[in-house]
Amino acid sequence: MSEQWSEGYFTDVAYTYGYYRELSPVFQRFCLVVNGIAPPDTEQPAYCELGFGQGVSINIHAAAGSGKFVGNDFNPEHAAYAAGLASKAGSGALLTDDSFEQMLGRTDLPQFDYIGLHGIWSWVSKENQKFIVEFAQRKLKPGGVLYVSYNCFPGWAPYIPLRQAFALHDRHTDRSKPAADRVNAALEFTEKMFAAKPRYIQTAAGVQDRLVKLKEQSRNYLAHEYFNREWNTMYFTDVVDAMVPAKLNYAASCNPVDFVDAVNLTAEQVDFLKTIDNPVFREQIRDYMVNQQFRKDLYVRGARKLKRGERTDLLLDMRFALVVPVESVAYKVKMSMGEVQLREDIYKPVVEALATGNHQPKTLRQIVTALAATTISLDAIVQAVVVLAGNGWVSPCQSEAAAKAAKPACDKLNAEIAEQNLYSAEVAVWASPVTGGAVTVQRFSQLFMLARWRKHTDPALFAAEVLRANGEMVLKDGKALQTAEENLAHLREQYESFVAKHLPALKSLGVA
Ligand SMILES: C[S@@+](CC[C@H](N)C(=O)[O-])C[C@H]1O[C@@H](n2cnc3c(N)ncnc32)[C@H](O)[C@@H]1O
Repeated sequence: MSEQWSEGYFTDVAYTYGYYRELSPVFQRFCLVVNGIAPPDTEQPAYCELGFGQGVSINIHAAAGSGKFVGNDFNPEHAAYAAGLASKAGSGALLTDDSFEQMLGRTDLPQFDYIGLHGIWSWVSKENQKFIVEFAQRKLKPGGVLYVSYNCFPGWAPYIPLRQAFALHDRHTDRSKPAADRVNAALEFTEKMFAAKPRYIQTAAGVQDRLVKLKEQSRNYLAHEYFNREWNTMYFTDVVDAMVPAKLNYAASCNPVDFVDAVNLTAEQVDFLKTIDNPVFREQIRDYMVNQQFRKDLYVRGARKLKRGERTDLLLDMRFALVVPVESVAYKVKMSMGEVQLREDIYKPVVEALATGNHQPKTLRQIVTALAATTISLDAIVQAVVVLAGNGWVSPCQSEAAAKAAKPACDKLNAEIAEQNLYSAEVAVWASPVTGGAVTVQRFSQLFMLARWRKHTDPALFAAEVLRANGEMVLKDGKALQTAEENLAHLREQYESFVAKHLPALKSLGVA
């Protein structure tokens, strides 16, 4: 049963353990600078995350960053888990179960350089949206950054009736059942409704595929995403208007792939958008061009435009790391306009330059120097880094000094996450002092690393024993392996591949 404090928010099951790099101050700084906007001039920010869920993101950022980290989530189960992680890491993050309204009444909070909220805006009431804006109005410094993500039009338009069907089914059937059963019942009901071929599915392109995909997703995620009383999908311009009381201007998308027109828009679309002078109106019409469904936006209180040379210098001094094995970088990427072929004559040399020295992070200046013998221009290198970062293969990094300071808390947080991994695979990221954010470390890799820390002579055997104790199957090519020998042989192969391909990057990222 939902409690009274829930204000219609779905609290019957806890949320998932996701990490969102868009909440990272280092990542936000990169997005702002690429877009020519001055970021807060500090590597020790006062930072607040509103509605942190299980708190994986804020814990990673607090451990991997320097500064004062504060956050809230009114679900006490979430806050207890998040505060527990912070205490293990010794990061000093102050994580409470205050509601947004209660955050407004707090007198112990600093003025913030960054306030972030991910997956909140569309799922809370208009009243709570006002509390959030009022919080930013009172607590964000001039020049400070607000990150907000939300479901938006026009991309969501065809699916709103789908969500409504789930919500109505939930309202008019037995709500005493466990949350996962209610979600399953609503999915089944909608599937049967679709089998009757309602005209809605003929006009709402892709809605049947969407239902199929939803069935594969975590029930906890679906409960929070689709079963809340509140569900406010908005246009970009509506959110721009909502931010006015906090003196916030739209500054940039926090999704780097959005920055490069060449991989998002046709020449015709680019030409059309050029006819629109007002930047907010243009951005809104761009959402029509790409059929935007979800926005990740950065607002700044008094955004200052960087001078051209200032932007270039900030970018040249910024450090970047290749966070995946070289082989993982694909030169064909899926974008809203379909599959896009990246120019390998530009992207490959950039990736190779980033991979040298076991993926040690490099300033853009160093990458430019490494490519000096080629004809690749600075603009092309920046564009490549932006697209590579957008796809999660490259990450902007913080300074060496900040990385050094963050190492002890990252080590402690990662050790705690690894220990938790003995029993479940919920948290799939570790904190990197180098990037100031998270790197993905999959279940097997976490177990291999834990075995190495514990000086276990046979990390594959250690992983096999943990998985067996948890009753978990090892899959190979989608099929469960049956015997202990098969399991161990497969884990040995995985371990070899981990050592050869993943360990070098993890070492350079300060997590191994
Ligand atoms: C969809 S989840 C997103 C969680 C997290 N930001 C993430 O992306 O993983 C929304 C979160 O907002 C919290 N929440 C909803 N209403 C709230 C309120 N009025 N005050 C504080 N937290 C709230 C919920 O408990 C939930 O954890």
